[in-house]
Amino acid sequence: MEKILVLDFGGQYNQLIARRVRENHVYAEVKPYNKITPEEIRAEGYAGIIFTGGPNSVYDPASPHYDPAILELGIPVLGICYGHQLMSWMAGGEIRSAGAISEYGKISLTVEESPLFAEIPRESNCWMSHTDFVSAVPAGFTVIAHTESCPCAAMSDESRRLYGVQFHPEVTHTQFGGQILSNFLFRVCGCRGDWKMDSFVSASVRKYSAELAGKKVLCALSGGVDSSVAAVLLHKAVGDNLTCVFVDHGMLRKDEGDLVERTFREKFDMKIIRVNAQQRFLAKLAGVKEPERKRKIIGEEFIRVFEEEAKKIGKVDVLVQGTIYPDVIESGAGDASVIKSHHNVGGLPDVVDFDEIVEPLRYLFKDEVRQAGLELGIPGELVWRQPFPGPGLAIRVLGDLTWDKLETLREADAIFREEMAAQGLTRAADQYFAVLTDSRSVGVMGDARTYGCTVVLRAVTTDDFMTADWARLPYELLAKVSSRITNEVHGISRVVYDITSKPPATVEWE
Ligand code: XMP
Repeated sequence: MEKILVLDFGGQYNQLIARRVRENHVYAEVKPYNKITPEEIRAEGYAGIIFTGGPNSVYDPASPHYDPAILELGIPVLGICYGHQLMSWMAGGEIRSAGAISEYGKISLTVEESPLFAEIPRESNCWMSHTDFVSAVPAGFTVIAHTESCPCAAMSDESRRLYGVQFHPEVTHTQFGGQILSNFLFRVCGCRGDWKMDSFVSASVRKYSAELAGKKVLCALSGGVDSSVAAVLLHKAVGDNLTCVFVDHGMLRKDEGDLVERTFREKFDMKIIRVNAQQRFLAKLAGVKEPERKRKIIGEEFIRVFEEEAKKIGKVDVLVQGTIYPDVIESGAGDASVIKSHHNVGGLPDVVDFDEIVEPLRYLFKDEVRQAGLELGIPGELVWRQPFPGPGLAIRVLGDLTWDKLETLREADAIFREEMAAQGLTRAADQYFAVLTDSRSVGVMGDARTYGCTVVLRAVTTDDFMTADWARLPYELLAKVSSRITNEVHGISRVVYDITSKPPATVEWE
């Protein structure tokens, strides 16, 4: 399979670079700069390499440096920002600090003739974010672009097919960034661009059926998109050698556990063990009000249940995890303060006796995972699922939990989801759900006074869930949902709509 290596030096746009490459129908993998050797790069047969940006200065001896032998492999290289400076520095060029005249933001760029700039006007805008710049190019390189204050905005050694750009072609603010990347892929690396999600699916199935032949494989299935896609992919590769364990902790939405079980057992004929641990989780959570305690208890109990199942299964060769690219980034983020602990299956590797972990979706973004799911024949209702927190409804029933409260919330939430679907609004919000509060209010039904609970409807639009806005859902929809919930769900006397963005609120109430 034709593929590009994105060598990661820690920049903030690295995930975007891989994605932009894949948008050109060329597969791209991101690897940390120090986790792959020149020999491995050659053996993998990459068509090209992209050095990403990064926060360091090449002068700092502790800054990440690649093995210079990479430039001798004969594989085309494009260095971006820090990657550009590093390439220059290691090949004998000069780097200087621009000091007060560092460039940030949209800058006017002038380019020379080069395959990298084919079909691009001489003058355009690019996105810059740097303090250091290349002040003298290494031997064999020529300057192929400049800006007013950056004498070497791009350089190349065309005989060796080595290119560097100081600006960021991967961000949309670089006017012809898309063209520059596609020039690199097609004109410089000679890619064909015939990669599609189905090639990813079939290449992965081939790869794992060869690598894992005869091995015993175990997967924790949550019913979420990522673990479902990982499990079906592995099932296509190893068939009945794969066992899936699905822990039903009782905090799922209405009918969800059955849907998951039915889909995988009946449609895909997979070996699936459903552990009905509802009462066990509820017992552990009895009387617990504090959200972080709930998360912790559920996380720990999940691991205990899984451990017991794993013991029954005995030693396995491979543990499959549905890690996707944003998870890799997030867990690498390090110091960011913990607002909510989003750990789901984090502790599994400690309790399963296995030799190796396989993460087939490690380089994919969420929408790419969904696409792979569709290619694999997973039903749309599972593939298009909105995100659902690991602790499930436990953090949507405010305060202490009881089975009755969970059932009440399940009914209210199902009505909200049914009406969103009936009115064709499922794409109008990126996440939407009901919350059962622990505050009661007075109502009137018939001629009688009621004193029931309040349900909150929450719907948000967001790109990344780090920030979010409340969705402007039509009043007619809200009216219908409110009237159905108060009429059909026993014990609810009031429905409110949450109009708080994130920040200052979070998406979930707990
Ligand atoms: P917040 O509430 O932090 O939610 O704004 C952002 C996104 O994360 C989901 N979320 C969780 N997911 N375990 C998870 O797997 C958790 O404990 C958890 N808490 C929140 C939330 O549903 C939203 O999509």
